[in-house]
Amino acid sequence: MTDHWLVELGYLIGAVLFILALKLLNSPKTARRGNWLAALGMAIALGTVGFSLGEVETRNYIFIAIAVAAGTIIGSISAKRVQMTAMPQMVALFNGVGGGAVALVAMIEFMASGNERLLPVPLVTAVLSAIIGSISFSGSMIAYGKLQELMPGKPILYPGDKVVTALVLMTVIALAVLPIAGSTSVALFAALIGLATILGILMVLPIGGADMPVVISLLNSFTGLAAGLAGFVLGNTALLIGGGLVGASGLILTLQMCSAMNRSLENVLFGAFGAAKSEGGEGTTAKGRMRSYSVEDAAIIFASARSVIIVPGYGLAVAQAQHVVKELTEKLEERGIQVKFAIHPVAGRMPGHMNVLLAEADISYDHLFDLEEINSEFPETDVALVIGANDVVNPAARTDKSSPIYGMPILDVDKAKTVIVSKRGMGAGFAGIENELFLRENTVMVFGDAKSTMTKLVAALDDF
Ligand code: TAP
Repeated sequence: MTDHWLVELGYLIGAVLFILALKLLNSPKTARRGNWLAALGMAIALGTVGFSLGEVETRNYIFIAIAVAAGTIIGSISAKRVQMTAMPQMVALFNGVGGGAVALVAMIEFMASGNERLLPVPLVTAVLSAIIGSISFSGSMIAYGKLQELMPGKPILYPGDKVVTALVLMTVIALAVLPIAGSTSVALFAALIGLATILGILMVLPIGGADMPVVISLLNSFTGLAAGLAGFVLGNTALLIGGGLVGASGLILTLQMCSAMNRSLENVLFGAFGAAKSEGGEGTTAKGRMRSYSVEDAAIIFASARSVIIVPGYGLAVAQAQHVVKELTEKLEERGIQVKFAIHPVAGRMPGHMNVLLAEADISYDHLFDLEEINSEFPETDVALVIGANDVVNPAARTDKSSPIYGMPILDVDKAKTVIVSKRGMGAGFAGIENELFLRENTVMVFGDAKSTMTKLVAALDDF
């Protein structure tokens, strides 16, 4: 018989490590240590589960060891191989299997109770974790499919879709009541899981591909909640606390992303953002004249600049231009030019996307400034260099009430003396709208892939 207090101590240490890890994940400087602490906490929690197995009848250690080893190998290989731009879909995939696992645990607990009814509280939590885990599983798989381009990324709408979703939701609620009312039918419980899985699909289909990071974060929160409930059913403190932490932090992250885009969660979930996007990129209604410069012309502007603010966006990640941007920074600083980076909270496609990208190229954190810190500096800045960013520098967010991004805080690059924009063509950003910044008098466009443009710029700077 295993000592109960040792098991509880193991779970407690695991839980404390999870909390410390979350604290360290607050800053890019300490995030790596945070990840290691979380992994250590998970290893301790898993070890404690293995240790506590002595208390129960199941002793299928080999099977459990194979499952843990397979998960560890798949997890570490995928984490090493994944491209930064594909991170949201990897999170979706892993989150989805977590939700699915929780639903299966609930099913097994229900089956194990046989004709004996579970006590009311574990029963309700098992039903809830089965529903939420199933929704999280299938919703995450759809999010993965959209982001991985295995299916159309745009919102998938059809006549009567909301009615169908509402009907499925009502059936799920009806099926959920049956076990609580006394049914011990495993078939009905399986039907509940099946329908909740369909509900997850129906809920995520109408959401636009690029809103997926918000949805994924919300589904993360669902999985955490479902896991916390499962921890309650199983009497596993680490799962209970870990699930609670994931649930709460996922929800906070979701709300922060929504507020950084100035959109409500309701609008993200039901607004079908992007459904009516213009397909052909930038439209034609913005007024002004576009100035297209060669890299050499742009280099001349830098030659007389004293201060530069670089604004990275999603295109920088696509082009993988972070290393050459580091070279550019060094080159400009050698000439006595002050270089800063302006980081918009939703630049790119996932929280912290730009920070991670720039950290990969060893660009020091002292160079990075948040929107609130740096916005007041643009009017005094000689050059704002926008690399693959679009929506986060679109002045329409300040002025155009009909714009889908109206009200979103933006980086005020248009107030800089000169704005140099590096992008491939006139392609729209995530919001699918035109950007009059590109036609402003103080803006010059340098067309081409960001990596190749920055490489040429670094070379051209030697000539001036
Ligand atoms: P976007 O507005 O998406 O614009 C990216 C621009 O990069 C495009 O206009 C594209 O124009 C250009 N680009 C693409 N590939 C390029 C390449 N190889 N070289 C150079 N340029 C390239 O990016 P953003 O300004 O970073 O804004 C992010 C958007 O995503 C916001 O609307 C935000 O609300 C949304 N979003 C963000 C998050 C998070 S958490 N970050 C979550 C959900 C949604 P060309 O095709 O002409 O090159």
